[in-house]
Amino acid sequence: MEPTLPATEARPATPPPASGLDARLARVMPAAERAAHAPLIEEINRLKRELGVAILAHNYQTPEIFHGVADFVGDSLALARQAVASDAERLVVCGVHFMAETAKILNPERTVLIPDPEAGCSLADSITAADIRALRERYPGAPVVTYVNTSAAVKAESDICCTSGNAVEVVESLGVPRVIFLPDEYLGSWVASQTDVELILWRGHCEVHERFTGPEVAAFRAANPGITVLAHPECPPEVLAEADYVGSTAGMISYVGDRRPERVVMITECSMSDNVAVAHPEVEFVRPCNLCPHMKRITLPKILASLEQGIHAVEVDPAVAAQARQAVERMLAVAPRGGVRR
Ligand code: 13P
Ligand code: SF4
Repeated sequence: MEPTLPATEARPATPPPASGLDARLARVMPAAERAAHAPLIEEINRLKRELGVAILAHNYQTPEIFHGVADFVGDSLALARQAVASDAERLVVCGVHFMAETAKILNPERTVLIPDPEAGCSLADSITAADIRALRERYPGAPVVTYVNTSAAVKAESDICCTSGNAVEVVESLGVPRVIFLPDEYLGSWVASQTDVELILWRGHCEVHERFTGPEVAAFRAANPGITVLAHPECPPEVLAEADYVGSTAGMISYVGDRRPERVVMITECSMSDNVAVAHPEVEFVRPCNLCPHMKRITLPKILASLEQGIHAVEVDPAVAAQARQAVERMLAVAPRGGVRR
């Protein structure tokens, strides 16, 4: 069994001087693309300082956002923690809608902006608050653990939230033999393989990770002898069975930083490899990846418009937010152990 990786937190992502940034982005982006991004990066950084805004970016954001304009980067758990820790007057969340909504739930008094409110998530769309009420009737007494990839209304019906970075700890923190775990079936079956707690699952899937297959991963191993395979727990079980490490996006980044594998493949969204490759030029990245169309709705021009016009403010009904906040705060109180491991 491999040692537990250190817990991952949102990391300051203060942009380096323009020339340093250009050299770093050159590892993953052609000159014409960098030249197109440079004036936008400069203007966004100027404006965010002037307005007292903090930009929080998920690990799946493109390198020009992740390395160019973000103040903090991380996985869903780290972004939720940072949304509480930040003292900025306004937050701009570069990620999908549930991430911005979670930041708003935790900061009802602050303005939380998302550059494109249409940035959704197939997992969040897979379940409703009414579905949870029906499950509670069917399994009376079983607490409901909900992945943060859900709407505020679903969180409000839940006992506690979790992310891919703390799901096992959250499930075990309840001290009960059986829980309802929603909505990601594959994350749930992965968690079930790591604990004695029985999990009642829902059949929600991530449209990005469900497309990876076990034979595809096996073929990468055959073509790249000695390669280290890292996979996100939203992948199907046959994919996770082929992986050397299973963990959240932050867990995968920590793995590369700590172990410096010679060659690695990250079975997850495309921008992950680019973002980590910028930071680790010594590691060779083999890149099978699937694009998240929702994450890719966030672009530099939309971030600039968000700052200039104060759009798009995330609003959550106060009563729903108060209920949802309890579930998110219970999660934040569970001590993190780092990525899920195998
Ligand atoms: P992480 O919490 O691991 O960053 O995952 C979020 C997500 O949406 C994965 O698809
Ligand atoms: Fe949702 Fe999947 Fe995109 Fe993550 S990668 S935001 S789970 S659709």
